[in-house]
Amino acid sequence: MAARHFLTLNDMTTSELESLVDHATALRNEWRQGKVRNSLENRVLAMIFEKSSTRTRVSFEAGMTQLGGSAMFLSSRDTQLGRGEPIEDSAIVISSMVDAVMIRTFAHETVERFAAASRVPVINALTDEFHPCQLLADMQTYREHRGSIRGATVAWIGDGNNMCHSYINAAAQFDFHLNVACPKGYEPAESLIKAHSDRITLFREPAEAARNAHLLVTDVWASMGQEDEQKARQKAFSGYQINPELLAMADKDALFMHCLPAHRGEEISADMMEHPASVVWDEAENRLHAQKALLEFLILNHLD
Ligand code: CP
Ligand code: NVA
Repeated sequence: MAARHFLTLNDMTTSELESLVDHATALRNEWRQGKVRNSLENRVLAMIFEKSSTRTRVSFEAGMTQLGGSAMFLSSRDTQLGRGEPIEDSAIVISSMVDAVMIRTFAHETVERFAAASRVPVINALTDEFHPCQLLADMQTYREHRGSIRGATVAWIGDGNNMCHSYINAAAQFDFHLNVACPKGYEPAESLIKAHSDRITLFREPAEAARNAHLLVTDVWASMGQEDEQKARQKAFSGYQINPELLAMADKDALFMHCLPAHRGEEISADMMEHPASVVWDEAENRLHAQKALLEFLILNHLD
């Protein structure tokens, strides 16, 4: 049987995604009660990082250990991948020794090529185009605080980047409407907008996108790999900040999320992280629980 991969949210059905999110909450509850779970005993996850990470690395590594398995950190600097060994050769070799592979890299094509040659599940832990693992945690967090997101309005304020792209996929999979407010030239990919035109409304004004929204989300103005655009982006995005004034335009029970790391004074005001509407710390912790649910689903082929 060919391995199941998780390269975008579209690699799963809506019902699989919903079960996964529910399972993540069940795992969180078990974990908080101190229950020991050895579902992935003796299983090994290889984690390939070509970009920095705090949450993703810690959640995958801690998650594997807490489920009785182990995780191996591989940076492109120290492996032959960084010295030009073909991706397909690396995939054949690594996947012959471990039970799943997680990759954080630049081009989305890299994870697709790796997955095509891998005999075990491959997880996209962020590419320039998508960050599906973060969306599992975000959807889990919304559900835990507000119930089903079906029919809700989510406002994405800022760059049409990898996170925004995964929010577009999530809008289709979890059945919500996405308002995107971004400056000219920083829109999400045209192909995604076209494919989901019934689900997305593009705005220039953050206040218009935020009006009556149930969830406000943003991300850094310059993503990893865009460091040399930092100055130009600071200028382009200067009006695109989530702050209490913008939040006041949203629904009275609106939540605020950010995948983190955050830049206070740029995409959020200094007071947003601790604002009563903010669920950023739950969102970050849920990376652990969502990752565990995902690993069980992909490695064991079931959720229970
Ligand atoms: N949100 C997220 O993916 O964080 P890291 O870059 O720290 O992994
Ligand atoms: N858009 C950000 C997300 C970091 C988790 C980046 O790609 O750097």
